[in-house]
Amino acid sequence: MKVMIVGGGGREHAIAWKISQSAKVDKLYCAPGNAGIAEIAECVPIGVMEFDRLAEFACEHKVDLTVIGPDDALGAGIVDVFEAKGLRVFGPRKNAAVIEASKAFSKDLMKKYNIPTAAYEVFTSAKAAIEYLKTSSFPTVLKADGLALGKGVLICNTYEEAVAGVKSIMQDKQFGSAGDKLVIEEFMTGREVSVLAFSDGKTIKTMTSAQDHKRAKDGDQGLNTGGMGTFSPTPFYNREADDFCKKYIYQPTIDAMKAEGRTFQGVLFVGLMLTPKGPRVLEYNARFGDPETQVVLPRMKNDIVEVFEACIDGTLDQVDLQFEDNAAVCVVLASDGYPEHYEKGFPISGLETFKGKDSYFVFHAGTKLSDGQVVTNGGRVLGVVAKADNLKEARAEAYKATEWITFANKYMRHDIGKAIDAIEE
Ligand code: AMP
Ligand code: GLY
Repeated sequence: MKVMIVGGGGREHAIAWKISQSAKVDKLYCAPGNAGIAEIAECVPIGVMEFDRLAEFACEHKVDLTVIGPDDALGAGIVDVFEAKGLRVFGPRKNAAVIEASKAFSKDLMKKYNIPTAAYEVFTSAKAAIEYLKTSSFPTVLKADGLALGKGVLICNTYEEAVAGVKSIMQDKQFGSAGDKLVIEEFMTGREVSVLAFSDGKTIKTMTSAQDHKRAKDGDQGLNTGGMGTFSPTPFYNREADDFCKKYIYQPTIDAMKAEGRTFQGVLFVGLMLTPKGPRVLEYNARFGDPETQVVLPRMKNDIVEVFEACIDGTLDQVDLQFEDNAAVCVVLASDGYPEHYEKGFPISGLETFKGKDSYFVFHAGTKLSDGQVVTNGGRVLGVVAKADNLKEARAEAYKATEWITFANKYMRHDIGKAIDAIEE
């Protein structure tokens, strides 16, 4: 089989690695890919938003299955373009990807179908939003409606802060048209958990849980980033939480989307907060998480291509999704200064140390080849992953492996997975 992946970050490298393990696959393409992906796939220089060129490439090269990584391509309808050409493609159509692309849509869906989430209101005018804030309690949460690279959420401690936030999102358009609508939401407290699940539109099967670390600096300080590290599974997501979410969140969400005529086929990523009142949905994403994928897929036992095909064919109920009984930790090596200003183009050394080691992975996020040398090419550069029997060992091994890599301005958090100390002996 010939398979193509659309995307070029750490998530896509992890997906590419997992697909490359499938006995069914004899040719793998990735558009546009990166220097790490280039070692296991043929990289194709087409951008993720160039839907017609991508679909043409898939037709010409007789690609049997295309897997879409990024949210912006899904939100803009890449799957519909592929399907219109009769191509097989894994990911939700535009009318289902809206579950991530519009927070107002997802909040209204949850309200209509009684799916547990924070109380909220949606506003289309700054004046009405500010009026509402006069009666709000603080902290309160402002969310730009549309896609904003994970940055469109402001937690405001005072009325003044919230008014400034409304103005910057709705009037100054800090996040562009993503701020045409605004969600104002009740502030919740608790641990955050990421649960990724496969769905064929009827059945939903969850993968193992994970926890991300979104802030740039140790102790959850600094700015929000795309994710500085992850661990899987998260012990805070216990049996009770899982039972609750299976009953009140996962299947109800898939059923709700079906009832709305927006059948969801692909990966549904449910961002949860484990509040004192029980699990609540923080957000939905319509795709694999980054860097959650880097710790989830190395623990997955199934042939992922079979799972993708079952999602497309509506036969997911026949798949026995299984994960290893171990743990994985991912530490992101970033360029110092990320997520603001940083330099790139520095040579990376030590990558070869990972070769031939089954429990260690180095997934490339922002790298490229320059005159045969792998150089830094982004804010998040590499995701260093280690697998071990338990979380503590996986964390120690992942941090050990971060030392194998050197590049100028290398930056990482030193407390990925530290939260587990609170409950492990
Ligand atoms: P989101 O993009 O909706 O996941 O929001 C980004 C981050 O903002 C989340 O990971 C949470 O840390 C925080 N957040 C979002 N919504 C709330 C809420 N209602 N209460 C508290 N924190 C929130
Ligand atoms: N790790 C969070 C995300 O992929 O959106």
